[in-house]
Amino acid sequence: MNFEFTEEQVMIRQSARDYAQRELIKDVLERDATAEFPTHHVKALAELGFLGMLVDAKYDGGGMDTVSYVLAMEEISKIDSSVSVIMSVNNSLVCYGIEAFGTEEQKQKWLKPLARGEKIGAFLLSEPEAGSDATSQRTTAIDKGDHYLVNGVKNWITSGNSASTYVLIAQTHADKGHKGINAFVVDRHSPGITLGPHEDKMGMRSSDTHSVMFTDVIVPKENRLGDDGFGFKFAMKTLEGGRIGIAAQALGIAQGAFDRALQYSKERKTFGTELINHQSIAFKLAEMHTRIEAARYFCLKSAWLKDQGKPYGTASAMAKYWAAETAMFVTTEAVQIHGGYGYVKEYHVERLMREAKLTQIYEGTSEIQLMIISRAIGNE
Ligand code: CAA
Repeated sequence: MNFEFTEEQVMIRQSARDYAQRELIKDVLERDATAEFPTHHVKALAELGFLGMLVDAKYDGGGMDTVSYVLAMEEISKIDSSVSVIMSVNNSLVCYGIEAFGTEEQKQKWLKPLARGEKIGAFLLSEPEAGSDATSQRTTAIDKGDHYLVNGVKNWITSGNSASTYVLIAQTHADKGHKGINAFVVDRHSPGITLGPHEDKMGMRSSDTHSVMFTDVIVPKENRLGDDGFGFKFAMKTLEGGRIGIAAQALGIAQGAFDRALQYSKERKTFGTELINHQSIAFKLAEMHTRIEAARYFCLKSAWLKDQGKPYGTASAMAKYWAAETAMFVTTEAVQIHGGYGYVKEYHVERLMREAKLTQIYEGTSEIQLMIISRAIGNE
């Protein structure tokens, strides 16, 4: 077993770290307040090759491995998860799905601009009544011969407005349940697509989250991804990798909060000595650090399994579960260590705590990850 990173992986981590610590940090508090979309940062990440980092170079991607993706996601998320969620959705949910299951024509047309980061993508699975229970799709895509006619509502869509390309999951054959669901690639500017207002979120406030309404939207037949009825499996396979990205995001949030708490406890004095010299604080930091290291191993293991072409669905659920729970634990403790300063925006940890909460909810709640893990244990 080799725990060393390759030179390339170290370089990728450094490049993400440099960008995050030098550029993202400058306006992260302002964007948290205004919820303004980070257009210039997304453009810069595209130039660094991070928006399509997992895509094969022949489709204009970075051709990097999943371990590198985890390292880059951690670094960006230490500073700003509004930006890293855009990167994660584009890489894992949109590019991956098209590259793994699309036709050559679909890859040429849709994947290449996404991999270059000229366009960004969104993944439209959740609905008002189909969040955790993803088989209960109400959005319909009715086969009309040479096209599908789409009607319905999707919600909680990351990059709902800023994306140019949607990967849409919808029901074609209601009588077949999940076996009648299809996946499509859809031009966001198709007639009949309208958006709800920007969701005023608790955290990750500058990523744009919207409901998306479809009214008699015509989707060409050639836009279907995979065989008729493959859509639910498409979504599940895609989310397996998405969860590695969100696990790495949670890891970054936790590490970012820990770094700030450690620094603060070395500087701040109470009762005549630095905080870190109080056993109550030292033990908190030790526990935070240990939980973060465990989350890191889970993230890297699931990434490594994916890179080796081995099954990684259970591993990515475990990574997502543990890293999200760790992010919530660590950020809450980081606020506590900062005392009153932790409760104000200037010290960042309250923002990281708000961001951590979302990692327990999206791309499958913590409870959904436990459901996946418990089924896997039963099946072994
Ligand atoms: N790979 C391949 N096939 C899979 C699969 C996987 N990982 N998981 C399930 N399937 C298949 C099953 O084998 C089954 O197929 P058969 O009938 O042919 O055997 C079929 O899918 C149905 O599976 P289940 O009976 O297990 O389905 P279920 O209704 O019990 O639910 C679930 C499974 C895991 C809970 C699923 O509904 C789920 O993952 N829910 C959470 C959805 C989610 O993560 N949503 C996030 C939205 S995206 C988002 O947040 C993006 C963003 O913007 C940040």
